[in-house]
Amino acid sequence: MERITTPALAQKFIEEQIKELRAQIGDKKVLLALSGGVDSSVVAALLIKAVGQQLVSVHVNHGLLRKGEPEQVVRVFRDEMNANLVYVDATNRFLDKLAGVADPEQKRKIIGAEFIRVFEEEARKLEGISFLAQGTIYPDIVESGPVKSHHNVGGLPEDMQFELVEPIKLLFKDEVRVVGKELGLPDNMVFRQPFPGPGLGVRCTGAITRDRLEALRESDAILREEFAKNGLEGKVWQYFTVVPDYKSTGVKDNKRSWDWPVIIRAVNTRDAMTATIEEIPYPLLHHITQRIITEVPGVNRVLYDLTPKPTGTIEWE
Ligand code: XMP
Repeated sequence: MERITTPALAQKFIEEQIKELRAQIGDKKVLLALSGGVDSSVVAALLIKAVGQQLVSVHVNHGLLRKGEPEQVVRVFRDEMNANLVYVDATNRFLDKLAGVADPEQKRKIIGAEFIRVFEEEARKLEGISFLAQGTIYPDIVESGPVKSHHNVGGLPEDMQFELVEPIKLLFKDEVRVVGKELGLPDNMVFRQPFPGPGLGVRCTGAITRDRLEALRESDAILREEFAKNGLEGKVWQYFTVVPDYKSTGVKDNKRSWDWPVIIRAVNTRDAMTATIEEIPYPLLHHITQRIITEVPGVNRVLYDLTPKPTGTIEWE
């Protein structure tokens, strides 16, 4: 198959897929777990063009998404594309289940299992679903890499095994992005950095608390905003903040404080198996530090993680 490298080739792919999807789906209904990541967003946009309201997209907000993400999914798909979108704010369910759980693998398991449970409950409320659409891409088939395990809904029970619709399963990530752009998806959705299924949950280390999660979300938003402003968005492979579950002393308003540090991580990699750190210019690091310590409640220090992979993994948990 010819690789999709140009807008014209993307248009051709889109037209072919619309025909194929219409032939496969007919007048039946399709269900999609729409995370807002590039793969599921491209699948949603294709299906909206092909079968319109026959697509039911479900966006589960597990409370561990980045600042502005659930709002963007609703704006782009429901408001602008007129999609049949079910938005489920399951924040309390997830955070209650995760309360007091410090072990990283246990946290991942809880998030993955709860995600399937919430999705299943929503699917049961709907009638006449025949197909399940998935944003599987070619590397997901040829290698079971670490990426995406928790947004796939392969764990649905026996009586909910729908026929699969996987329109981008022969594409590589760069091709998915070209198609996404042609489908009119916003750049920050199409060129977005990878985001793990368990989301901010593995960056709020140890047992997650709501206040520390908020400090994480706010500091991450500042980092992303500054990277975008300074031409690093799209250049650096993955960048985020981490808030560990310990405090240190500081001074604020002439008083001693006892607050969290924020750790900045920014890495480059080809395949996520090894990674090098991005050399962020010092003036920018100073500026980001200044913003975080003044704008984010509960934080008194900012650290920059200089560790390559190996020995450090990209995520902290
Ligand atoms: P590590 O931390 O192992 O991460 O160096 C390599 C890449 O995988 C992502 N990652 C995950 N993605 N579920 C996911 O969907 C996970 O549990 C998970 N853990 C790590 C990580 O963000 C990086 O891109």
